[in-house]
Amino acid sequence: MKKPARSPFRPARLAACLAGLGLLLSACGPRVPAGEIPVGEYGSLTGSDATFGVSTDQGIRLAVAEVNAAGGIDGKKVDLIAEDDEGKPEEAAVVATKLITQDGVKAVLGEVASSNSLAAAPICQAHQVPMISPSSTNVAVTQKGDYIFRVCFIDSFQGKVMADFAFHQLKARRAAIFRDEKSDYSVGLSSVFAQVFKRLGGTIVSDQSYSAGDMDFKAQLAQMRGSRPDVIYVPGYYTEVGLIAKQARDLGMKQPLLGGDGWDSSQLYSIGGSALDGCYFSDHYSAESKDPRVVSFLAKYRAAYGGKTPDALAVLGYDAANVLFAAMKRAKSLSGPDLRDAIAATRDFPGVSGNITLDKDRNAVKPAVVLRIENGAAHYVATIQP
Ligand code: PHE
Repeated sequence: MKKPARSPFRPARLAACLAGLGLLLSACGPRVPAGEIPVGEYGSLTGSDATFGVSTDQGIRLAVAEVNAAGGIDGKKVDLIAEDDEGKPEEAAVVATKLITQDGVKAVLGEVASSNSLAAAPICQAHQVPMISPSSTNVAVTQKGDYIFRVCFIDSFQGKVMADFAFHQLKARRAAIFRDEKSDYSVGLSSVFAQVFKRLGGTIVSDQSYSAGDMDFKAQLAQMRGSRPDVIYVPGYYTEVGLIAKQARDLGMKQPLLGGDGWDSSQLYSIGGSALDGCYFSDHYSAESKDPRVVSFLAKYRAAYGGKTPDALAVLGYDAANVLFAAMKRAKSLSGPDLRDAIAATRDFPGVSGNITLDKDRNAVKPAVVLRIENGAAHYVATIQP
């Protein structure tokens, strides 16, 4: 499949290339125009998790447009270079290497899916190029090194949020778990949920797995049905979760399915339809929030993208880019070590997803929301503080 985002049309670069043509042909590669600041982005702009990458890209582009309209960073414009990794860890490593070694980016924004961030982080770390993941929540991501940051909460918190909610609010005592065994995110979140749910006094009555890309989940679901769970925790991504919900209902299972932020996609509702009614998931933000920062972001985003309501990915992409730009303005220089230190010093940054303070492990400590699905939309239920 052709990757549309690979060679974004940048008039400024084209002009620079044409001007330099007679002098130095080799300068016409991925070189960034002099006087601009190259910033990399990598994500799933195509593939089965494409709404993750596309939404994140839209949020980032909004932030770039705003910073450039306001004069850039010390008078220099940000030049965003976005690469599609098709949602694959191997590709994430390839494009991160390209951004750093060929484009000379000063920092990298990405990825969403934890497995992809885990693949690219060691490359950023080895080259001392700061990476900020907008939304990868697996605990190990920022443990890849001191150049790796994120602006979201982590799964040791997110898994506990849903285990607490299941036990205390839904009064569940018997839970089944259905994990994507190929996904670091899904495996990590499943184990936190199981640990906390058992500590509270609940029982994990069934623990089944699938792999992203599977289409038929009936055998595992039938197993779970036999173990009579009160709830089924499915911390996967939207494509499989939508199918799982439908097939569970086809098998006559009425239990609520519970999940995490990986459910957040408009595609979830197109795939799962009414099978998802009465299900719950944890997330980073609710579009129903009346917080003035959310309200103003919603308006800007809808105006830019044809009335579309931003999901959490768009919000976190916007926040990650703005945290980076604020750090660039404060940094002693844009060298890797100076920029790293400036990002690490982020305190009380006013993000749309909440205030962002990076702790000593380079993670943001923020509340989560619990959402309930009804009639093809997710509705705010509760905010859980860390
Ligand atoms: N937290 C998920 C991961 O780490 C990615 C994700 C974030 C998906 C937010 C949807 C919304 O893999």
